[in-house]
Amino acid sequence: MKKTLRSLSPESLAGRRVLVRVDFNVPLNDAGEVTDPIRIERALPTLSFLTEHGARVVVFSHFGRPKGQPVPEMTLRPVSDYLRDRLAGPVAYEPSLDAEQVRSRVNDLEDGDLLLLENTRFDPREKANDPGLASEWAGLGDLYVNDAFGAAHRAHASTDGLPRKVRGNGGEAVAGFLLEKELEFLGRALNDPDRPFVAILGGAKISGKIDVIEALLPVVDSLLIGGAMANTFFGAMGLEVGRSLIEPDRYETARSLMERAGDRIVLPVDCVVAEAISPDAEARVVERSDIAANDLIADVGPATVQAYRDLLSNASTVVWNGPMGVFEMAPFSGGTFGVAQAAAERAQAGATVVLGGGDSAAAAEAAGLADQMTHISTGGGASLEFMAGKTLPGVEALTDN
Ligand code: 3PG
Repeated sequence: MKKTLRSLSPESLAGRRVLVRVDFNVPLNDAGEVTDPIRIERALPTLSFLTEHGARVVVFSHFGRPKGQPVPEMTLRPVSDYLRDRLAGPVAYEPSLDAEQVRSRVNDLEDGDLLLLENTRFDPREKANDPGLASEWAGLGDLYVNDAFGAAHRAHASTDGLPRKVRGNGGEAVAGFLLEKELEFLGRALNDPDRPFVAILGGAKISGKIDVIEALLPVVDSLLIGGAMANTFFGAMGLEVGRSLIEPDRYETARSLMERAGDRIVLPVDCVVAEAISPDAEARVVERSDIAANDLIADVGPATVQAYRDLLSNASTVVWNGPMGVFEMAPFSGGTFGVAQAAAERAQAGATVVLGGGDSAAAAEAAGLADQMTHISTGGGASLEFMAGKTLPGVEALTDN
């Protein structure tokens, strides 16, 4: 267990310089407006708690992958505009990462002020977890708060070196409200689930999720597979998959998983196929044994949705990561939306339903069901690594409780 912001006395925050790492890596449209603010919104409780208690808050975030140099499209300025509209107190933004400039802006902060620094990845030393950069930043405050679950799987200067330096200087490094909640929901679902525990895994590739499947197998009652990942299982079973996305080099893995899992791994019984993956494609529903040589599998079929619904109908814990098909295109959205509906109904009936971030979060949003789930993670890669049982450097670096 790591120390949390909740455990600190709010009175100790007044006048204190607090360094907060958030994950403001959010999608923007061409006009530079934030199109999906969930990561910012979820960090607001921590930020407003700190400013309302008189802390002087310095905010760090990465944005995109600028490869260690300033890239104008990856500036955090649009995010600072969004933040200004959403926080009651003053929000300043510093476009330069220059040490002197940053120090002087931080020195000018007054109680309750917030300063958002520029994209940490504009400095090549961030991704290199450079000790010099970590020391530079650690000199700016004596309390570090990590609220960047989405970046907790990265050992970078702002997620790893900085909290360790702050602690080395005699300060503290704690989990913010967002990070605490993520660890609590995902941790409880995986380590101490109410049963039956059903996991749903989708997405493109089995290779990217093999560690997650391995970690989940011993604890789940059922593991429902969808998305292109299912195609690799079909191929391993000797079924025709047409021109669908497959990973033949994973057939052996798929066979071994099926052997070990018995009937706990559940595969689609029917599929939605088309000759092209496009929004106006002519889609057909076929049994999984009737896929033609020219077909592309783009979704699970209605009989599969019904079977998954039945398995979900008495689940007490549901963890879902990865869509069932190409839900962004209407002809192929039925599987993902159908499963989302079933998961939402379970959540409404009192089960714990946790969605990994990224595509599954976007799918729940597109289905209009996001607010009915128990918890939607803000982490994509981070939630996958957590589900695979890996330790997250951004969490490891915090003060033990
Ligand atoms: C994410 O979007 O998953 C996080 O912000 C991490 O981004 P990264 O994969 O570029 O480190």
